[in-house]
Amino acid sequence: ITFFVPRDSGSLALGAEKVARKLQDEIVARNLDARIVRNGSRGMYWLEPMVEVETPSGRVAYGPVKPSDIASLLDTGMLEGGTHPLSLGLTDQLPFLAKQTRLTFARCGITDPVSLDDYRAHDGLKGLEKALALTPLEIVTQVTESGLRGRGGAGFPTGIKWKTVLDTAGERKYIVCNADEGDSGTFADRMIMEGDPFVLIEGMTIAGIAVGATKGYIYTRSEYPHAIAVMNEALAVARKAGVLGTSVLGSVHAFDIEVRVGAGAYVCGEETALLESLEGRRGIVRAKPPLPAHKGLFGKPTVINNVISLSSVPVILDKGPAFYKNFGMGRSRGTIPLQIAGNVRYGGLFETAFGLTLGEIVDDIGGGTATGRPVKAVQIGGPLGAYFPRELFDTPFDYEAFAARDGLIGHAGLVVFDDSVDMLKQARFAMEFCAVESCGKCTPCRIGSTRGVEVVDRLAANIEPEKQIKVLTDLCNTMKFGSLCALGGFTPYPVMSALTHFPEDFRPAPVAEAAE
Ligand code: NAI
Ligand code: SF4
Repeated sequence: ITFFVPRDSGSLALGAEKVARKLQDEIVARNLDARIVRNGSRGMYWLEPMVEVETPSGRVAYGPVKPSDIASLLDTGMLEGGTHPLSLGLTDQLPFLAKQTRLTFARCGITDPVSLDDYRAHDGLKGLEKALALTPLEIVTQVTESGLRGRGGAGFPTGIKWKTVLDTAGERKYIVCNADEGDSGTFADRMIMEGDPFVLIEGMTIAGIAVGATKGYIYTRSEYPHAIAVMNEALAVARKAGVLGTSVLGSVHAFDIEVRVGAGAYVCGEETALLESLEGRRGIVRAKPPLPAHKGLFGKPTVINNVISLSSVPVILDKGPAFYKNFGMGRSRGTIPLQIAGNVRYGGLFETAFGLTLGEIVDDIGGGTATGRPVKAVQIGGPLGAYFPRELFDTPFDYEAFAARDGLIGHAGLVVFDDSVDMLKQARFAMEFCAVESCGKCTPCRIGSTRGVEVVDRLAANIEPEKQIKVLTDLCNTMKFGSLCALGGFTPYPVMSALTHFPEDFRPAPVAEAAE
């Protein structure tokens, strides 16, 4: 008998460790011939800790499980996939999963994250094997043809970035994986690292072979201890099995990967600040040009890609660029792992082709708010993303469609708010966040964010409101066009969207009428 209890940090935070321990105790006490696989999460966090059992008709799920439920689960036929109040039925048939198109997350929650055999048994390493039979240019061309764009947020075509590095001469080149997932409401990078680390290793190795790099770094944050542990465990397994090392899968190519841990500054997710930090200095943004593709880590040509971009490469190489490109809409090709969070009923990770509308995502998939109150706003793309009101719920999830409505999809995190949210406070928070996280290199961001907090405070205190709105708008324009990087440059998105779509929250509070 095989049981599955996640080791993903979201599940651990909800008690998965105690559930696994109790299940192990019961296995011993009942003398069962059973083992527990510690898998990644399937991404349905309202059901975690979700325990699964392998049955002849497929895996059956139970959740959310508490340690005190284990005995009754085993007593009432869980071993055969029987029913119980916590019974969810066949995992694959759960609507939240059945409606997805899982390409990048195909194995997440299914396999044992640190078993290379399990990885291989579920199509793992096929992309790398195919890449080894191609020339570097052919690999890069396939990635370009797939239409894959940077999933960190900027949406720059991955193949074109790789081509720049391939074409740049350098005695050493590097692959840097940006795993410094800092956006509010995002957890896709963490889920991959904890649930399917080999897919990231495979993607980075393919990138190395494609551009001629022999060393890769995964830059992540100290707030991700479980991801760091799983990644390091998987790296050791990959080295031992000859996937990494002086001869990748017996080929002429050498490649190895190291995990580096930052201290969690938001700006270190900006690629040049990340490079500074990786080189051992304080995370301060570098001016571009030169692009990292020309002069990156230690001054050498460097590919910097987000975890999800790199983890999407193996399936592209395995199934071909046309297969991947077939999903999506417009210039947004393939799939995107939506991370649905905040005040939402069904929060979790939902991988789907681009093109679902915001309304479908929030109302149909997310099930509306957890509080049952009406949705007032959804912030898309992290703390620097715009707030969208219900009137814009027809916006399809697509880079260009969001940009056309003064928003961005960013790293595809969505944070839902009900009608109790005060948008003036949210605008203040955006400015305050920027002030706290600013690296201080340029004036519009360093000074502008602090002035922004003051202006919003004056608005809240009803001091010359018309004038404050003008100053705030002007300040946002200066920050947007005058900042060196996205932190200062994108802070206006949440501020201006709050002001534009929710003007009622910025109006002076009505003066209370004197009691008769
Ligand atoms: P960018 O537009 O300046 O650059 C995008 C990428 O393309 C960079 O890697 C850049 O080096 C590369 N690039 C540009 N032209 C190139 C060329 N000709 N050849 C090769 N490479 C080239 O955007 P940036 O500042 O890197 O990222 C901003 C985005 O980051 C925002 O859209 C935001 O959504 C996202 N973001 C994501 C966060 C997260 O936690 N994932 C946090 C904060 C922001
Ligand atoms: Fe630093 Fe802010 Fe300027 Fe970016 S915009 S370089 S974070 S001061």
